[in-house]
Amino acid sequence: MEVEIAGALRTELESGLTLPASWYSDPAIYVREQERIFHRSWQYACDIGQVAEAGQFTTVQAGEVPIVVVRDQADELRAFVNVCRHRGHLVAAGCGKRETLQCGYHAWTYDLDGSLRAAPRSEREPGFDRSEWGLSPVLVDTWGPFVFVNPDLGAASLTDTLEDLPALMVERGVDPAKLEFRGRSREWIVEANWKIVVENYLECYHCPVAHPNFSRLIDVDPDQYLLSHGTWFSSQFGPVAAQRPNGKPLPYEPEGEVRASQFHFGWPNWTLNTLPGPPNVRMLVFEPMGPDRTKTYLDSYWAPGTPDDLVEEMDAFSAEVGQEDTDLVASVHLGLKSGMIPQGRLLLDAEHLLQHFQLLVYDALS
Ligand code: FES
Ligand SMILES: [Fe+2]
Repeated sequence: MEVEIAGALRTELESGLTLPASWYSDPAIYVREQERIFHRSWQYACDIGQVAEAGQFTTVQAGEVPIVVVRDQADELRAFVNVCRHRGHLVAAGCGKRETLQCGYHAWTYDLDGSLRAAPRSEREPGFDRSEWGLSPVLVDTWGPFVFVNPDLGAASLTDTLEDLPALMVERGVDPAKLEFRGRSREWIVEANWKIVVENYLECYHCPVAHPNFSRLIDVDPDQYLLSHGTWFSSQFGPVAAQRPNGKPLPYEPEGEVRASQFHFGWPNWTLNTLPGPPNVRMLVFEPMGPDRTKTYLDSYWAPGTPDDLVEEMDAFSAEVGQEDTDLVASVHLGLKSGMIPQGRLLLDAEHLLQHFQLLVYDALS
């Protein structure tokens, strides 16, 4: 499948036009995105506590690439493409603790450092060299409790890629290193292309219209709600609304040391979300599952000692906002797939983070 990308498109994007509508459902574009974006970027994998002890492993995705993250016997954190070198069955499933990783198809067995320890009957095969058939390694690194993976062994380091995002968060009262994992709150499927889901995340132009409760809690006035970006991340900051509407209770009482929300997007598909209250970060990830579907999940990290009922209250609030967004993006997906509007038009004052994302997509694919 060949993809023709017009050079003039970059100029159009700079002027405020969007990516072509066809890019949100075209299978050829999707394949190229996997190769040029998801095979080459740092993506959130799991909480470090899930691979704290030797032998612990957990399976994750980098785009469509299955990955297994594992703590080996020498206490080193490692990650591999979770695909058997024999004929492609997935090696590990779910998470757990094991001494080796054994494929469930013909029992090729890998050590936790990825080397092939045993392949039944391979000694009868002249010229078979086990040392050539270990699991394919990928990059793995951590930031606070977050484990990240990158299938591209030649990629820039995670630290370089994060730029000043960690410092920016600490400055605003949230240090992920001081938070603890409270589990995956939710996981659901969105009937929309992953880019539509990301783009919806990158603007709050829709908030007053589509998120009434959110807009009572957070000040979404364009003079209060601030947008900024680096190269590989972007940020939105919204203070707690000063004007409380009479009589109507807020979705929850934002009590705690964090007085403003912050929503950070990391290229290509992970986001860090802090709501006002006790220090918290919810890692919301958008995982492509084909041109028309996106898996979304939310991993919660909180200041130690945050009471369960507050965690549940804020999860319920996020779920409400999440459902509103799920409906929006499914509608946009149908609209773009109709083929009847070739391109949209951004309002750059409110939507320049979305433009920044589309330029990254364009540059990656062209
Ligand atoms: S595919 Fe894994 S052992 Fe055959
Ligand atoms: Fe939204």
